[in-house]
Amino acid sequence: MQISSPHQAHVPAAPIVVSVQGESPARAREAAHHLGLQFGNHRDPDGLLLVVGEASAWLELHGVRVAVQFDSAAMQHRRKGRHNEMLGRAVGLKADRKPLIWDATGGLGRDAFVLADLGSEVTLCERVPVLAWLLEQAVQAAAVSGVDQVREAAERMVVRAGDSKMLRAPAETVIYLDPMFPERKKAAAVKKESAMLQRLVDQADDSEALWQWAWDQPVERIVVKRPLRAPILGNIRPAHTLKGKSVRFDVFTRRS
Ligand SMILES: C[S@@+](CC[C@H](N)C(=O)[O-])C[C@H]1O[C@@H](n2cnc3c(N)ncnc32)[C@H](O)[C@@H]1O
Repeated sequence: MQISSPHQAHVPAAPIVVSVQGESPARAREAAHHLGLQFGNHRDPDGLLLVVGEASAWLELHGVRVAVQFDSAAMQHRRKGRHNEMLGRAVGLKADRKPLIWDATGGLGRDAFVLADLGSEVTLCERVPVLAWLLEQAVQAAAVSGVDQVREAAERMVVRAGDSKMLRAPAETVIYLDPMFPERKKAAAVKKESAMLQRLVDQADDSEALWQWAWDQPVERIVVKRPLRAPILGNIRPAHTLKGKSVRFDVFTRRS
């Protein structure tokens, strides 16, 4: 997820909740009530929408949709990617060792799902309420998926809405951070999906504060996902780093 720099003004946007055309609006109304958002019948062409159907939900802006769906073709493809292998190694996953993961920056839950799929129990925290709601709905949907592995992974996922910095991560967990990426040079042209998510995340970048929070927790390992050339988060050097094509994982341990 690409997030603009703290120097740039964010355009905060509360989505309007609408129902999927032709479906019962009951679940959309319930979501609007739960999230304290306006339920609308009209579609403002420039407005951000949370579209909720009887069994589906997505964010929509200018016709571009973002959904959280763990048994989608894209997620199935991602399950097999090399990125997963590296993410698993970064958190210390082994055939006989499945660490508990505290994902403090839940986002769209893609990394969390990968880790749950690899066998870890994952708690995801997300501070943007509508994203936390989408994550919760996606975990519930995955729990009754027709794909066995997706159901099994969903059983290992728990969503918590709120600011991670207000919570205490249990001692035996590995904290995983994938904070707001610093703006890259060509950010203006970067994916439409990112543009939509930027509109949602109206809070300032708290990456450094998150790292400090993580370091203050009684955990042995913290893994930070960064763009390949971004500066290190925090004020100590990672114990080691795993590098991919466009991102890297900085691994901090108490011996760092
Ligand atoms: C780059 S995205 C994470 C993407 C995620 N790893 C995935 O695979 O979908 C960063 C997310 O962290 C969330 N976030 C940032 N600071 C947070 C905090 N203090 N507590 C909880 N969530 C936070 C943002 O709202 C955003 O959704």
